[in-house]
Amino acid sequence: MDELCVLAYSGGLDTSVMIPWIKEKYGMDVIAVIVDVGQKEDFESVIDKAEKLGAVEVVKIDAKEEFVKDYIFKAIKANGLYEGVYPMGTSLSRPLIASKIVEVAEKKNASAVAHGCTGKGNDQVRFEVSIRSLNSSLRIIAPVREWGLSRDEEVKYLEKKGVKIEREKSRFSIDDNLWSRSVEGGELEDPWVEPPEEAFVWSKPISKTPDTPEYITIGFEKGVPVELNGERLNPMDLITRVNEIAGSHGFGRIDHMEDRVVGIKSREVYEAPAALTIIRAHQDLEKLVLTRLELEEKKRIETTWAWLVYSGLWFEPLRKAIDAFIDYTQLNVDGEVRVKLFKGEAMVVGRRSLKSLYDEKRATYSSLSKFDQSLAEGFIQLWGLSTVRANEVRSVKS
Ligand code: ARG
Repeated sequence: MDELCVLAYSGGLDTSVMIPWIKEKYGMDVIAVIVDVGQKEDFESVIDKAEKLGAVEVVKIDAKEEFVKDYIFKAIKANGLYEGVYPMGTSLSRPLIASKIVEVAEKKNASAVAHGCTGKGNDQVRFEVSIRSLNSSLRIIAPVREWGLSRDEEVKYLEKKGVKIEREKSRFSIDDNLWSRSVEGGELEDPWVEPPEEAFVWSKPISKTPDTPEYITIGFEKGVPVELNGERLNPMDLITRVNEIAGSHGFGRIDHMEDRVVGIKSREVYEAPAALTIIRAHQDLEKLVLTRLELEEKKRIETTWAWLVYSGLWFEPLRKAIDAFIDYTQLNVDGEVRVKLFKGEAMVVGRRSLKSLYDEKRATYSSLSKFDQSLAEGFIQLWGLSTVRANEVRSVKS
């Protein structure tokens, strides 16, 4: 039997070409692995295609639950937004897909694994660092980086192999899963051009959104969402529901100038109604239940967390260490957040928690105040001591 290569198969043109290509150029039999992370896909036809293209085995793995529990939940707790805006659906899915590919390779005694990433993007970095971190003896094959074929040449190559493949319907390159939808290419490559309506699927244009606002309440326990409008839902259903509701109000579009790991700037368009709504609600709840110092430190560390995840370093020990810090802070993140969805906006309009640090009796300006205002005078004198002193001594005032 020929050597085996386990391919991360998406059903798209590139990874389809790879099945006969790996056989022809590398002399290896291909096991195609399809990992379901919630992408909208007709898996039946993807499996069928892989078989027709000559895969010796096709394995489909449902990793949705693992994706939510071990990746998305961590991202929610970390308020994970790369460069402050992108909830990293694509970035988060890659280490999970890589781990599944490695698992299959080990089980089947394969000597190589393959992915369909180009040499220009982040995904090659994420796949390869993850694969090597999990099993550094596997050979990694990345044909798209080597073959230099245009889309038309790829279609022709498959035709020569006797497989007719319909060209992808969209002019965009799309990657979607439960957490976000990434859209690249076509006219989006000109950062001046407004993303056309066809780029969006999960969110309505404002002209088609309802004329009355909708309020939703998201309940959190230990930093993760567990309830929607008082109803306990499994996390996958909760995310899907919030995605539909927020998207129906036109919320969740992102148009971003992004810095890739490989040094290229790119224009990226995303849709992530649920991710953005849930993170916004979570951030707000944290402000109610965490101390000022916890919040300040967490913010710094969140930037590092998002950078690590985006940059393909999911398996970096620092990421785990940061998660340990974050998990500790999340022990107190219980409560409910009320979000108003209306005309492309998601606004937090209410929050409550049994662990709230807000004390109305202290904060109120009414006569019910329990705050001893006379304490403030001495505090201010000490607080400003060194600033006042410096201005006394120096001839030039700051
Ligand atoms: N820029 C995003 C990331 O690196 C998304 C890449 C998505 N890929 C695609 N084929 N559209 O995470």
